[in-house]
Amino acid sequence: MAVQINPSILSADFARLADEAQAVKGADWLHVDVMDNHFVPNLTLGVPIVESLSRATDIPLDCHLMIEDPDRWAPQFVEAGAGSVTFHAEAAAAPVRLAREIRAKGARASMALKPATPIEPFEDLLPELDMLLIMTVEPGFGGQAFLDIMLPKIRRTRELISRHGLELWLQVDGGVSAETVERCAEAGADVFVAGSAVYGTDDPAAAVRSLRAQAER
Ligand code: DX5
Ligand code: ZN
Repeated sequence: MAVQINPSILSADFARLADEAQAVKGADWLHVDVMDNHFVPNLTLGVPIVESLSRATDIPLDCHLMIEDPDRWAPQFVEAGAGSVTFHAEAAAAPVRLAREIRAKGARASMALKPATPIEPFEDLLPELDMLLIMTVEPGFGGQAFLDIMLPKIRRTRELISRHGLELWLQVDGGVSAETVERCAEAGADVFVAGSAVYGTDDPAAAVRSLRAQAER
């Protein structure tokens, strides 16, 4: 289970996205938070910016869609150059069909769960996915405090993945920092999104390296 560190550009300077991608050399993926002010109370960016960003960096893009109607939009993010597209379980009308469409278009398919959404009803869907994202804050904003109460859910999800013998990646997003990354890793997460803990420092590349070292411990 190789550790991956995905800096979230939500905490970067949006006027300098190409440079900000350059600043996290060594990161596995660049996490791109798409918000529509309906699924979450915040508005960020859409397909054209993902298209430009994918041309501007070699780091693959991990697009996290916090939007309504992902069934309609997710395929467009694959076409825009995303290597992985995450839709929310609470928003997708037909998650199996959507995951298959994302894969058929050539990207990794991933599904996210808000803190109050349990994993158990989705157990049978796991083979359709390449990654599962467990939110460790309420989605919508960077810089929020990590929700410790999500640790048992991370643990249960890792057990389900093992029980089914799946190669699924398990991502955590929200409040991941030097203080919390080890607990997430210990609970079974292997892909770590970090916004403020990377871009909120003077040396984002060093922050990526030290988060990785802590997660690998
Ligand atoms: C929150 C976003 C996160 C956010 C994480 O809704 O999905 O990706 O950027 O930011 P931090 O790491 O600062 O909690
Ligand atoms: Zn995110």
